[in-house]
Amino acid sequence: MSITLTIFTLISILLISIPTKLQPIQSSIGFSILGYIIVDYLIPKVKDSFIKRGLFGKDMSKIGRPIIPETIGIIPAITYLFLMLFFIPFLFQKEIIDSNLNLNSVFSHSKLSSYLSSLLSLESMILLGLMDDLFDIRWRHKFFLPAIASIPLLIIYNFEFNQTSILIPKFISNFFKFGKNSINLGMFYYFYMASVSIFCPNSINILAGINGLEVGQTIIIVILLLINDFYYIIGYYIENNVLAKSAFEIHQFSVCFLIPFLGISLSLFKFNKFPSKVFVGDTWCYFSGMVFAVIGISGHFAKTLMLFFLPQILNFIYSSPQLFGLIPCPRHRLPKFNEDDGLLYNSFTLYFDSENPNLNSNEIKELNKNLIPIFNFFEKIYLIKLIRNKKGEIIMSSNLTLINLTIIWFGPCNEGELCNLIMKLQFIIGFIMLILRHTLAPFIFGFDNSWSMLNRFYL
Ligand code: UD1
Ligand code: MG
Repeated sequence: MSITLTIFTLISILLISIPTKLQPIQSSIGFSILGYIIVDYLIPKVKDSFIKRGLFGKDMSKIGRPIIPETIGIIPAITYLFLMLFFIPFLFQKEIIDSNLNLNSVFSHSKLSSYLSSLLSLESMILLGLMDDLFDIRWRHKFFLPAIASIPLLIIYNFEFNQTSILIPKFISNFFKFGKNSINLGMFYYFYMASVSIFCPNSINILAGINGLEVGQTIIIVILLLINDFYYIIGYYIENNVLAKSAFEIHQFSVCFLIPFLGISLSLFKFNKFPSKVFVGDTWCYFSGMVFAVIGISGHFAKTLMLFFLPQILNFIYSSPQLFGLIPCPRHRLPKFNEDDGLLYNSFTLYFDSENPNLNSNEIKELNKNLIPIFNFFEKIYLIKLIRNKKGEIIMSSNLTLINLTIIWFGPCNEGELCNLIMKLQFIIGFIMLILRHTLAPFIFGFDNSWSMLNRFYL
């Protein structure tokens, strides 16, 4: 073991075990460092045996399409599960310790059910992801399974919180003379939360195809969520009142899940970033998506969570013509690699070309006539790239992914730079959402659990 490794391992053990007023956040940093070290140690050791077992994929955007170990996301996922199990005795102790440390240092036993059901949901998702990587499950079969994995969480939500009302903006309730500023969605709120757990994993999986992006996007979401959490945690120290305290407890719980998750993600990113030495597989996409769903649901901020998923939401909406079969969806929609200059260009979906009918196999269909004016309009506003034959018929349209759209806007790009660019854009969008959530929301809704100081300012 090298000296740095020994030092970091010691630091993590000290952080985990020394009881101070900064617990349990301090322990979660210790587990994060430990997670980083374990994943960093394991991946190089096991990656070749993944290839031997047939778990590999071709890196499509490199010369000669080299073979890379796939499904490596299982390593950080399992590491995370074990660390979170090991975390339990440090998080949940009988509330006796030192009364000066008060209850902030540990969680009450009622939170343990929420914690365990979160781990149960994550375990189910890891299994589903692994099955998908091993057996390529059809999407219509796997699509709804995350909702089933979230059932334990929804039940705990029902016992613990059962808040099914959503706030409506003041001006709307005044206009329609509702007399109250919220609507109770009842059962529908549970459908909404189940949909969040379907959406998060799947949306991460379809914003993929360039080295580093599957892990990179999750790191950005973690950072945004942590900023949001610390906003409430610091808020509590400034505004020591009951409202701030309940927000503090919820967000401290979320931090305990997120900080160790950041550790394993950063370690995985080291191997997955351009040029990738490993591929993460659908195991990672499902697992990481579920981590966010679990945090959003158990932390009672499933709506705020969606703000940080805006790029994934936009990618889903933009992709919908291909996802719902309006136009063909090839197996891979990743950008096209040009071996001559090493850059990524747009990839395209093909349509029937009446000028060259021989070049088209029977499977290639004509573009739906109703879509032509829409596509022409989208082309004018730089939302799609179209290729026409000499007769002016559309014979190709760029694949509808945010990655392709970035190439339309910023031009052909090196793979590593493209991933960095998308991550930067994702952070900027998320940060704007974060600011709007804490400034506009209290203003529009008149009330919000955002830092009460802000509320006082607006009310
Ligand atoms: C999703 C996308 C698909 C995209 C694929 C890439 C939809 C509906 N599906 O499919 O368009 O092509 O992810 O992950 O949007 N790969 C690379 N470089 C990378 C990452 C992946 O070449 O940086 C290739 C490798 O061959 C790898 C394969 O993509 O083996 C993994 O694809 P997989 O995760 O199985 O695809 P899907 O999730 O089904
Ligand atoms: Mg995938």
